[in-house]
Amino acid sequence: MIAGQFPEKFLWGTATAAHQVEGGNRGNDWWAWEQGPGHIKNADTSDRACEQYGRYASDFDLLRSLNQNAHRLSVEWSRIEPAPGEFSRTALGHYRDVLQALRDRGMEPMVTLHHFTNPTWIAQAGGWDAPQTSEYFARFAARVTDELGTLAPRWITINEPTVIAYQGYVRGDWPPGTRNLGAAARVLVNLLRAHWMAYERIKARHPELQIGLAHHLRVFDPARRFMPQDRAVAAAFNRVFNETMLKSLRLGQLVFPLTLAGRARGPRQSQDFIGLNYYTRELVKFNHRYHAELFGERMLPAAAPRSDLNWELYPEGLYRTLRSLEREKLPILVTENGIADHQDAMRREYLLSHVAAMLRAIAAGSPVRGYFHWTCFDNFEWAEGYSAKFGLIACDPVTQERRPRPSAQLYAQICRLNALPASVVLPPAAQPVEPAGPSDLR
Ligand code: FCB
Repeated sequence: MIAGQFPEKFLWGTATAAHQVEGGNRGNDWWAWEQGPGHIKNADTSDRACEQYGRYASDFDLLRSLNQNAHRLSVEWSRIEPAPGEFSRTALGHYRDVLQALRDRGMEPMVTLHHFTNPTWIAQAGGWDAPQTSEYFARFAARVTDELGTLAPRWITINEPTVIAYQGYVRGDWPPGTRNLGAAARVLVNLLRAHWMAYERIKARHPELQIGLAHHLRVFDPARRFMPQDRAVAAAFNRVFNETMLKSLRLGQLVFPLTLAGRARGPRQSQDFIGLNYYTRELVKFNHRYHAELFGERMLPAAAPRSDLNWELYPEGLYRTLRSLEREKLPILVTENGIADHQDAMRREYLLSHVAAMLRAIAAGSPVRGYFHWTCFDNFEWAEGYSAKFGLIACDPVTQERRPRPSAQLYAQICRLNALPASVVLPPAAQPVEPAGPSDLR
C-alpha cells in the first residue's frame, strides 16, 4: 500500500434515499407533510424530485462513468406495501431491475429499508409512536430481503433513528410534527425493537446477508472548554445522541434513558457492520433555559468555514468518530458524508479533507470498508426542499438536466486511483475555536 492508498476492494459510491430522488411518492407521510403550509422551504414538493424512478439506468451510467463501484439507495416502503400486508409485484419488480442495473454496471448495491418515510397507513395508525409499527416493519424487511436479498450483500434496516426521533418528536420540524420528549424516547425504543426484529428474521432466512444500521453521529464539544457545566452537557449530548443506540445494540437491551420509555430486548451484537453518517460538529453551552434540550444550547464556532446550511466543516470530527467506533469491533462503512454548497466552492476541500481524515483513521487501525458521498444529484432535501444543493452533480428540478460539478471530477479521480491524488495539498488540521452565534442545525 503506497502512502495515500486505500485498502483493496474499497467501496466508493454515493448515497440517496428513495423519497429524495424518485419522484411520485404520494403514499407516505412526507408527501402529506409537504402539503402543509410552511413545512418545506419555498413550498417545494417531492413531486418530481430527480425523476429517478424512470431515469435510474442513465443515472447509473453517469455514476459508473465517474468510476464509482458501489451505490447506496433506499426502497420506498409505501410503494412496496401500499396497504397492510399487500405487497406490490410491480414495485418489487422495479427494485429488482434497479439493483440488477447497478450490478450490470459493476456497482455493488447497498440497500436501506427505511429512510425516513412511512406509508400513510403506518402514519395513520400512530407511526413510530405505536409499538405495532416495529412488527409491520420486520414483516416488510423480511419480505423485501426474501425477494431481493440475492442482489445486494449489505442491507441497512433504518437510517438515522436519532434524527427521526429528534426532528419528528423533539423539534417537530418533520412529520408528525410532535414536540414531546417522552414520545421521542418511545419512538427510539420502537425503532430499536424494529431493528432487532428485522435483524433476527432476515438472519434466520439469509444468514449470508450483512445487516447494519446507519447512525448519524455528530461531534459535540464544550463551547467553553474550561467550564465544567459545558463539558457536562456536551458529554450528555454525546451519550444520548451518539452512544445510546450503539450501546443498546451491542448489549441487546435498552440502556438509560431508554429504559424509562419502554421495554424491549434483542440479540446481542445485532449489527454486522456500522453505517456512519458524519457531517459536522456542534459546540454545546450550558443554558438553564434549555431544559427541553438537556440544558444544552448548541453553538457554532466563530471563524469556522461553513456550508450553505451553516454546518461547520470539521473533518477532524470524522477522524475522531471513526476512532471512537473502534470499540465496536465491527467493520465500518461511511454511509453518508457531504456538504450543501450550491457554488461548489467548498466541496473539493470538504471531500479531500474528509477522505484524508478517513485515510488517517484507517492507518491508525480503523476498519473502514467503504465511503458513500452524500450525494450524487441535488435532490429533495426534506424541509429544505430543493434549496440545499448536496450533489456532486447539479440536477435542475425543472429541466431535470444533470451537470457534473468540478468536485464530481475530483471524486472520480479518487475513486479511480483508490487513493488521494498525489498532487493534493491537504489543509492543515483544524485548530480549537471559540464559539460565536447559536446553531440553527437540525
Ligand atoms: C442526512 C439524511 C439524508 C440527507 C442528509 C443531508 O441526515 O440521512 O437523507 O438529508 O442528511
